Amino acid sequence: MTISNKVVLVTGANRGIGAATVKEMLKAGAAKVYATARDPKALPSFDDARVVPLALDITSDTSVAAAAAAAPDVDILVNNAGTLAFGNYADSDWSTIEDDMRTNYFGTLRVLRAFTPQFVARRSGTIANVSSVVGLSAIPLMAGYSA
Ligand SMILES: NC(=O)c1ccc[n+]([C@@H]2O[C@H](COP(=O)([O-])OP(=O)(O)OC[C@H]3O[C@@H](n4cnc5c(N)ncnc54)[C@H](OP(=O)(O)O)[C@@H]3O)[C@@H](O)[C@H]2O)c1
Repeated sequence: MTISNKVVLVTGANRGIGAATVKEMLKAGAAKVYATARDPKALPSFDDARVVPLALDITSDTSVAAAAAAAPDVDILVNNAGTLAFGNYADSDWSTIEDDMRTNYFGTLRVLRAFTPQFVARRSGTIANVSSVVGLSAIPLMAGYSA
């Protein structure tokens, strides 16, 4: 994947791996990085004019549609936003599994579906989904997350 001079969008860019990804993309020579967060005020100061802050809650149709409209020039989409709730499949509170699926599965899918049309129209585009080793080898206490 070539990052130099590309336009990148990172979900969940306000902290953790998302914020680190923004910094690495800038170091690698990206032309522009849309740093997205549920609350853009929570974004760190990346101290770089190439960073464009953008509101994006991946569980919201309205928010995702607005972000896709505001960022029509994305070359590399980094689906980083995610949640982790602990609970086993058998008897944990249903909401622990549903919350992770709402964000990690349906949220990521919602973003993919919103951005794919611009990639298809331009016949180019790269999608990087941040996943986890527990997707390969499930941990019972992380049932929703592993799935
Ligand atoms: N850390 C690890 O060891 C590890 C290992 C394997 C995979 N991962 C994956 O790597 C990714 C980032 O992990 P991390 O450790 O950096 O996690 P983190 O520090 O908990 O950050 C999660 C990020 O996702 C955002 N987010 C959560 N729900 C969102 C939503 N509905 N819409 C938009 N953004 C949302 C959070 O925003 P708020 O601040 O608004 O909550 C935050 O920016 C996740 O997908 C995680 O599953 C992490």
